[in-house]
Amino acid sequence: MNIILLGPPGAGKGTQAQRLVEKHGMRQLSTGDMLRAAVSAGTPTGLEAKSVMARGELVSDDLVSALIGDELDAMAPGSGAIFDGYPRTASQAHSLDVILEARGRTLDHVIELDVNEDALVERITGRFTCAACGKGYHDVFERPRVDGTCDKCGGHEFKRRPDDNANTVRTRMAEYRAKTAPILPIYEARGIVARVDGMADMDAVTAAIEAVLAR
Ligand code: AP5
Ligand code: MG
Repeated sequence: MNIILLGPPGAGKGTQAQRLVEKHGMRQLSTGDMLRAAVSAGTPTGLEAKSVMARGELVSDDLVSALIGDELDAMAPGSGAIFDGYPRTASQAHSLDVILEARGRTLDHVIELDVNEDALVERITGRFTCAACGKGYHDVFERPRVDGTCDKCGGHEFKRRPDDNANTVRTRMAEYRAKTAPILPIYEARGIVARVDGMADMDAVTAAIEAVLAR
């Protein structure tokens, strides 16, 4: 199964993708995570992306589509993919069609996380992740069971994203509204969009997504 999780910054794409990975053994393909890894490693891709991401704007379509193609090529043909934060423009949506077709894959569901933008700044500015395993947390909504220790791997180091500040978040939301939300009709015309209430608590969102996958 191949699915897209679609929603603005802080909607819960990464949170829900991690849960699907654990439950179904699917693979999370987050272009944001791939780009952050490239920035940390100082690769040419990272150098190109760093300042664009810091401003909250979108990096080039060709660059992210190439990353997605490479990741899919590294996956076992039968394993499912969760596209998290990709596609984000009409051009990326077209590229994804080409990329999937070339690999004999089809898109099963586009799950739109429907959220109230006013709540997202609080979600984003409270977010942190385990530096070792990447598990996501929130200062208020999802704290580690033992303060300072990762529930998943026992790590003690946590990090915050440089683009998770109130200023950049506004630009990221504007980019979503202008360039990403308009791709929904492409998938609505194919009858594969399911809308899930992203304002519900995390477990309820997970249950709603599971119900879509079981259809
Ligand atoms: P990316 O990393 O994709 O960031 P984003 O789209 O802005 O989304 P986020 O990761 O901020 O939100 P999320 O929906 O994953 O929320 P999360 O689950 O963490 O992209 C970053 C940048 O990279 C872009 O700005 C761009 O520059 C570049 N980029 C990436 N992909 C690109 C592409 N395809 N094309 C061009 N450029 C690209 O949840 C947030 C917080 O809320 C967490 O702390 C979580 O614990 C909490 N939370 C989650 N769900 C709930 C809930 N139901 N209730 C309460 N709290 C919750
Ligand atoms: Mg994310």
